[in-house]
Amino acid sequence: MSLPNTGDWERDVAALIERVGDDLADGRYPMAMLNNPDLYPTELRRIFGHAWNYLGHVSEFTEPGDYARRYIGEDPFILTRDESGELHAFLDSCMHRGAQFCTAESGNTSHFRCPYHGWTYKNDGTLQGMPHMAEAYQDLDEEEIALTEAHIDSYRGLIFGRIADEGPTLREYLGEFTWYLDVLFGATSEGMTVVGEPHRWEADHDWKTSADNFSGDSYHVLTTHQAGLETETLARGPWEKLDDFPGASYLACTDRHSVGYYLSQEEGTFMGYPDSIRDTLNPALSDEQRELFSRSVFHFGTVFPNMSIIHGIQSGGWGGPWACIRKWNPRGPGTTETTSWWLVPTELADDEGFLEDSHRGWESLSPGGAFESDDLTIWEGISDSSGAVTHELRETRGNMQQGLGAMSDEVETVEDPLHGPAAVTSKGLYFDERNSQTLLRSWYEMMRQGAPES
Ligand code: FES
Ligand SMILES: [Fe+2]
Repeated sequence: MSLPNTGDWERDVAALIERVGDDLADGRYPMAMLNNPDLYPTELRRIFGHAWNYLGHVSEFTEPGDYARRYIGEDPFILTRDESGELHAFLDSCMHRGAQFCTAESGNTSHFRCPYHGWTYKNDGTLQGMPHMAEAYQDLDEEEIALTEAHIDSYRGLIFGRIADEGPTLREYLGEFTWYLDVLFGATSEGMTVVGEPHRWEADHDWKTSADNFSGDSYHVLTTHQAGLETETLARGPWEKLDDFPGASYLACTDRHSVGYYLSQEEGTFMGYPDSIRDTLNPALSDEQRELFSRSVFHFGTVFPNMSIIHGIQSGGWGGPWACIRKWNPRGPGTTETTSWWLVPTELADDEGFLEDSHRGWESLSPGGAFESDDLTIWEGISDSSGAVTHELRETRGNMQQGLGAMSDEVETVEDPLHGPAAVTSKGLYFDERNSQTLLRSWYEMMRQGAPES
């Protein structure tokens, strides 16, 4: 098959999707799947149109009328809490002629008034009225007109939305990954709280590249972030030296989502949070979940398709600990707008000293920080070269074979309830790419079927 030669867009895309499935069988992938203008519209429809997409955290929407603009794929939604306390996600498109009715990124309002002709909606999406209603709309069925809504549901304060009517419930979609979300977002009784407004920036990389990186790419840290690793103070932490890292690193993937974490040998690390965290632990956690949190140093992962997590100790004088949710909003082939939220345990949300340290940690992973610029340069280069005609004509294959068969030394499969219900959990830093394979397999399943299985 040669992608560019058939002149048949649909057949080319279908063939490329099948190549992803074939190549994955031996840990490869078609390089041409990144920054691909033919594939991209199908991703928007089949993946973002059908997946449960992360939209925001309940702590951002505490009062009736609180709202913020959020995206599913490229579709602009307004996530809001109505006057009765219910959450909604409305497509920002007026039911008269489709104008965007929300002109701010976030705020609080009981009504949205369209700037084109003035139709006005309550924050539950129903029509309030319009100018000259008595003269112009004498037979109008007002009940029938309401803003278009996405289906929404939440887990541990994380609000997700889905466009398609049919599909698995959020619980089914998250599956066994809820076990890890419990530890990440429900370790303390009051859960996590978003602090401040999220950061946003746009860069020329494919959304899949960053989702893959956060799913468990510890391997890149050795090279991409070498300068940071070589600073003497970074080695300080629960380990004496960097060589201790491999014995503390784990990757775990369910059938759709992935997580990675570093653990100390002893309990009591608690991601580096102050000792007071011990008094706030959520009694609903299982003993295994509590032990995992207690020994945790650092977590990261990706909820398919485009929500990533990074949480834990920051050392090297860069502050911390902190928790961050990333959302990789697709903005065209090979272009992503990142939204980055900073979260802290609710019990620590008023602790000024802690917040100052935590904020410095979070900032180190923003475009102005030491680590983000390392990654962005690489990711943009990937996008640039992945769009090459050469990759299409030669059908070149990228490599994610670590962890397959007998490929990787110093990687052992772990079976211990402490590590949760993941399909595969492995120990040994750097040399396992099964989380990346999981991300692409999730991509393949949805692109092939047009929707997720439960
Ligand atoms: S498009 Fe909104 S009132 Fe006309
Ligand atoms: Fe990185």
